[in-house]
Amino acid sequence: MSLEELIRRIPKAELHIHIEGSLEPELMFDIARRNSVGLRFRSVDELRRAYAFTDLQSFLDIYYEGASVLRTERDFYEMTAAYLRRAAADNVRHAEIFFDPQTHTSRGISFETVFGGISGALRDGPISSKLILCFLRHLSAESAMETLEAALPFKSGIVAVGLDSSEVGNPPSKFASVFSRARSEGLLTVAHAGEEGPPSYIREAIDLLGVSRIDHGVRCLEDPQLVQEIVAHKIPLTVCPLSNVKLRVFRSMKDHNLRTLLRHGVRATINSDDPAYFGGYIVENFRAAAEALALTESDIRQLARNSFEASFLSPEEKEKMLR
Ligand code: ADE
Ligand code: ZN
Repeated sequence: MSLEELIRRIPKAELHIHIEGSLEPELMFDIARRNSVGLRFRSVDELRRAYAFTDLQSFLDIYYEGASVLRTERDFYEMTAAYLRRAAADNVRHAEIFFDPQTHTSRGISFETVFGGISGALRDGPISSKLILCFLRHLSAESAMETLEAALPFKSGIVAVGLDSSEVGNPPSKFASVFSRARSEGLLTVAHAGEEGPPSYIREAIDLLGVSRIDHGVRCLEDPQLVQEIVAHKIPLTVCPLSNVKLRVFRSMKDHNLRTLLRHGVRATINSDDPAYFGGYIVENFRAAAEALALTESDIRQLARNSFEASFLSPEEKEKMLR
């Protein structure tokens, strides 16, 4: 089997996908028309041309604008169903999906509408899945706490809370009490850290937020002691290669540190982050990283194994998927 075939066929789990980041321009325009929401782009092509980012914030500005077309439960359902179909085609067997309720509740869309649409599609979906509620870190800790309160009646459908949006200047410590509350309610925790922010944010996420995984985490290599801890405690990193190049965390895929992370024994995984914006789903991420970094068959198998081991599936479910 060629490496290309192995990448396509090997069963995978996806652990870092923002559902709002899977909204393809065609569906965005369909939903905008249906809801009579105006977009400042006249066509799918014009919108795609705007997907030229210089850093995380330049992406987030367009990403939040795109999400503004979503208004009804049906919109959230269709977006989620489309992602699940696409992931299944890449032989993703299990997905742990982020959603950003504050992006919608701040526009007057209820938590119930957002959660109802997404969780309905997950229930009807072709693959196994779990849902992770992310707090927007550019907003206040009070706003995050209000969001957590709104989510608690639905917590049986939510496995964990996470932290995303503008990283620099919004350290994990800002959300320590919210995460502590979430953990006391039985929720697991993850956080974006060390994407654009310094290694100290990764350490804060581990020490103050009690995270089970770090999202991105690629800047950990700047702190050898931290790398040792991440390896010793088997703290997984959900790495997103195409995202990192599009948002200029690395200058090119050849400069990406994924291979180095693997050689250090870090439990790294490959994920798509916001596939509609960054030029590809999980297979394209594997392919681009494998080609630029000369990953081996054994690396690909390790990455796929890591994805199930790092997941929030039960030990029995993990065992079954790994087999
Ligand atoms: N929200 C969606 N994608 C994100 C990313 N890569 N980093 C931070 N917040 C995000
Ligand atoms: Zn992300």
